[in-house]
Amino acid sequence: LDNGMARTPPMGWLSWQRFRCNTDCVNDPHHCISESLFMQMADIIVNEGYRDLGYQLVSVDDCWLSRERDARGRLQADPHRFPSGIPALSDYMHKRGLSFGIYEDYGNYTCAGYPGILGHLEIDAFTFAEWGVDYVKLDGCYSHPTDMDRGYPLFGYYLNQTLRPMVYSCSWPVYQTYSGLTDCNTDTLESMNIAKRSTAALPNQYITVEYLTPWLCCAGYPEFGYFLNKTGRPMVYSCSWPFYQILTRMQPNYTSIINTCNLWRNFDDIQDSWESVQRIIDYYGDNQQVIVPNAGPGHWNDPDMLIIGNFGLSYEQSKSQMAMWAIFAAPLLMSVDLRTIRPEFKAILQNKGVIGVNQDPLGIQGKRIYKDKGIEIWARPITPVFQGHYSYAIAFLNRRTDGTPSEVSVTLRELGLAYPNGYGITDLFDGVHYGTVLPDKRFKVDVNPSGVVLVRCEVIKGSAGAARFREQPQ
Ligand code: GLA
Ligand code: GLA
Repeated sequence: LDNGMARTPPMGWLSWQRFRCNTDCVNDPHHCISESLFMQMADIIVNEGYRDLGYQLVSVDDCWLSRERDARGRLQADPHRFPSGIPALSDYMHKRGLSFGIYEDYGNYTCAGYPGILGHLEIDAFTFAEWGVDYVKLDGCYSHPTDMDRGYPLFGYYLNQTLRPMVYSCSWPVYQTYSGLTDCNTDTLESMNIAKRSTAALPNQYITVEYLTPWLCCAGYPEFGYFLNKTGRPMVYSCSWPFYQILTRMQPNYTSIINTCNLWRNFDDIQDSWESVQRIIDYYGDNQQVIVPNAGPGHWNDPDMLIIGNFGLSYEQSKSQMAMWAIFAAPLLMSVDLRTIRPEFKAILQNKGVIGVNQDPLGIQGKRIYKDKGIEIWARPITPVFQGHYSYAIAFLNRRTDGTPSEVSVTLRELGLAYPNGYGITDLFDGVHYGTVLPDKRFKVDVNPSGVVLVRCEVIKGSAGAARFREQPQ
């Protein structure tokens, strides 16, 4: 979504994976979903350097709501767990240079059974804007996946699926105008050949689609996006729409998703285990032809939260998640108790070199370029670019569990890195510089079981570049 937001993948903290729907503040006051939990995390994010590394979002997930809307039909937070109210919480974040995120659901209920936004789209968008919300995660439980993007875009999608080129003439804007919806969703209109009603003689392969009830013209996630935009407050829009469609074997319309959302989930919820992380990595690798081209500044694939520092990942596995999320150009949303995280996990989350890859301004998502016998190699094009040659982040991922590190030996040319002056290579976890490596020189790394080696390969600019690279501080 081109709304000026999320030009690089969002970074911050999200409550769900670690704190779930713990609402028992009587017996478990330190871990329940309450304003004090988010305030404590915000303080640590500011005081322990996370914010200054880019982790600027603090976001509420499910279970913040009251079971009922108020007398005016507006959403309200649980009064016992959020006694100061959401505007005060969002203020707390803004005063500390952080942004504030909230969770809702397109359906009748959130996944945990609290009120959803269906039937209240406009009022809820305006409530969020009034509360100073900067980021909205919109889940998709209790709604039907075919309702998530209904109307003209959906029919256009099916026209396209037929593979027969047809001019698509739509009456969508005129009916919206009739019903007072003056500035309709022009992003989505781009997918039409003729945006206004046309009375021209019908050529072959020309289809006119008339009336639907005005909001069905782009019902679903695009409709809520329209209202968010209408509030005038810039908000990052995180969607679960493709995930729920994929679950029911629909093929999501990524053109429409890119125009509507800043980020979106494609796959299952992450759980606190290496097995879960590996399933996500496999999904991204196995579906990369479809998924990878959709990522870019303002629109990102979201493989779900970082679970680093919790109970399920070893040290090596934690580095693997961090490295792979950097290759994926993924949002870096920590879901961990920052009050008790061990220093070695904190260091992984705070690794500047890896964050630098994740936040690379080109915003090109990486791909799996090799997979054999438990060894995978992933490559992501990054800056600097010189004479048409990208620099690269390369991840060597070892999926073996045979108890001993595996040696991987390649030439850069085999990985597609062919710039003749070579590349300056740095290991981003142990900081080792390999100096300048020419495309045909053999290059070796030892990769620990369920671990990763992540290197940055920078194009050497001209002949003087080699010396300049060596002088660069880590
Ligand atoms: C879904 C989402 C999760 C989380 C829960 C909350 O499962 O995918 O990320 O938000 O709902 O109930
Ligand atoms: C609407 C359309 C016209 C025409 C008629 C047919 O009014 O705007 O262009 O197609 O329906 O009933």
